[in-house]
Amino acid sequence: MTKIAILGYGTVGSGVYEVVKKNKDVIAGKLGDEIQVKYVLDLREFEGDPVQEVLVHDVDVILNDAEVAIVCETMGGEHPAYEFTKRALESGKSVCTSNKELVEKHGPELIRIAEAHDCSYLFEASVGGGIPIIRPLRTSLAQEEILSITGILNGTTNYILTKMETEGLAFDTVLARAQEKGYAEKNPDADVLGLDACRKIAILTSLAYGKKVDFEDIVTEGITAITDVDFAYAKKMGATIKLFAKSVKKGDKYYAIVAPFIVKPENPLYAVKGVFNAILINCNMGGETMYYGKGAGKLATASAVVADVLDCARHIGKHLDIRWEDQKLAISPVDGAVRRFFVRVPLADEPRIKDIFGEVEMYTDIAAGECGFVTEEMTEAEYRDKAAGFGSVLSMIRVD
Ligand code: HSE
Repeated sequence: MTKIAILGYGTVGSGVYEVVKKNKDVIAGKLGDEIQVKYVLDLREFEGDPVQEVLVHDVDVILNDAEVAIVCETMGGEHPAYEFTKRALESGKSVCTSNKELVEKHGPELIRIAEAHDCSYLFEASVGGGIPIIRPLRTSLAQEEILSITGILNGTTNYILTKMETEGLAFDTVLARAQEKGYAEKNPDADVLGLDACRKIAILTSLAYGKKVDFEDIVTEGITAITDVDFAYAKKMGATIKLFAKSVKKGDKYYAIVAPFIVKPENPLYAVKGVFNAILINCNMGGETMYYGKGAGKLATASAVVADVLDCARHIGKHLDIRWEDQKLAISPVDGAVRRFFVRVPLADEPRIKDIFGEVEMYTDIAAGECGFVTEEMTEAEYRDKAAGFGSVLSMIRVD
């Protein structure tokens, strides 16, 4: 019997409790051992909930109990999750977490502490909710050079963009409806401004290359400027618009960006709709692999935490290594990234387009008083200079 504790009985923590209980026999069958939740830490009481029997309010009860081999940190936020995690690892207890903020900020340090104490720090649930993505990067693709990672890593924004596309609605209308239904947070900034996706691609890129990627180094644009008119253009192109979180290795340079992209049906991520997430990874030997599923939600995320619990339970007293050095991965300025750009300008300026942007694919008659075009490939710096020279660009969306 392997005894575990859960820190935080919120959405994910209560999900972990449920997964362990409901899938008790499945887990025992696969593991050859039972998992038992010995403690749940939370400041609140849960009268009438069976969790009350194992509920504690003092973390020391858990940290001082040698029987507890694995701790699930499902509190979220940096503090006190950081202190609790550190102390658990220092006492030789493996920690499995869904806390992307903590992983992004302190991942390398916590992995090294785990290594020094013959235990593990695992975080499958921190990116892509229930989608297995950390483990494939750590194990299945360990022999590969990763050439690119492209992710739809935020369910809220993918839901909003999907509704804008299918129902022809404006961003604000869809956001308000999503908030009413509880699909979007009351304060949706982290999602709609791309910050959540940015933290997640920072983690995935760090794992792909074994060095630390700071999310502040990644150019991040959200979806707040995307309009129903943009979708009308995209439709004309036979494409859609997705918020991509992307990192690319080109020679010895690394680029990363979070931004809306025009996406054609040839890209498998085109088909990812609603709250679903997906990650497309291109490797130098095996080519493309894609990972798809629920990027959030109680049981999906909890299931990923429990997958880590099983991994730790199979390796009690051993460290499951994740190569993630504290040394920073230099992300090159986005200026050097090469791609095509979809640009909208006033109709009156159409005659000047070719002089400045060269050969383009034109789109007219989509909206009154304006036209749109897709450029040939150029660097971001070249685009910026041309757009500045043109002077009257209404909007730009990158083309995948
Ligand atoms: N707010 C996130 C999303 C879920 O919408 O995908 C948690 O990472």
